[in-house]
Amino acid sequence: MDVQELIQQACAATKNAYIPYSNYPVGAALLAADGTVYTGCNVENASFPVTICAERVALVKAVSEGVRDFSAIAVVTRNAGSPCGMCRQMLFEFAPQMRVIIADMDGNVVFDDALAQLLPLGFTPNHLDHAAS
Ligand code: THU
Repeated sequence: MDVQELIQQACAATKNAYIPYSNYPVGAALLAADGTVYTGCNVENASFPVTICAERVALVKAVSEGVRDFSAIAVVTRNAGSPCGMCRQMLFEFAPQMRVIIADMDGNVVFDDALAQLLPLGFTPNHLDHAAS
């Protein structure tokens, strides 16, 4: 996997960020096991909590197309901001061991490790009585 290429795709995704309230663009590039990359940007809303983060946009694009197996995600912001807890949890559902790369717009990487390192003891489908289908 070319990490800088994934970061570049995340960077490009920030161009579509809809951010009239925060002016804080976020881009994500989610690499599926088959090599397909799903990108996402943050999409804000006048009802602030309705906002969806870039990571979850990328994830739901993939899952809605039947893709559930992921190997990495690159998340890019101007100051290498870290994925929020909600996004960590949602990614963890599908691939706790996926690689997470956090970078700034210049490609400087501040974190490159497994998602499980960002969400220790994350809640999984196995904690429920029945596995997710
Ligand atoms: N944001 C993301 O897109 N991903 C995160 O993991 C953290 C926060 C967005 C949401 C909102 O549009 C802006 O960053 C400021 O919170």
